[in-house]
Amino acid sequence: MMLNRLNHIAIAVPNLEEGIKIYKNAFGASLSERYELPSHGVSTIFVKLSNTNIELLEPLGEKSPINNFLIKNPSGGIHHLCYEVSNIDYSIKKLVNKGYKVLGDGIPREGAHGKPVIFLHPKQFIGTLIELEEV
Ligand code: CO
Repeated sequence: MMLNRLNHIAIAVPNLEEGIKIYKNAFGASLSERYELPSHGVSTIFVKLSNTNIELLEPLGEKSPINNFLIKNPSGGIHHLCYEVSNIDYSIKKLVNKGYKVLGDGIPREGAHGKPVIFLHPKQFIGTLIELEEV
């Protein structure tokens, strides 16, 4: 089994401050600091739960990968799931050998936690965008 824990579920929001307000007001959620990730085209904040995190994502810049999602889902919605793996290079190799596609150039990038991440194409995963993070 390649997958370990569920690291986070990411929810795209048109406005991060609005998303933060909802999670604070409704649930009294405890939140991480806000991160700007220009290389990923997102601003993000994490709602910390005892067994996983919820990542709120707001588009950052014209080329943000979240822009298209929000055109299709104007009020926001679940954007991706992030599973932890022990060795991301090994996982990529295994998946590519089995015919699965990793997005981009296939080289892991530094994610919101400063650890390497890669995304898998939703077409091959039941319509779900999957992020793998080496933890
Ligand atoms: Co993520």
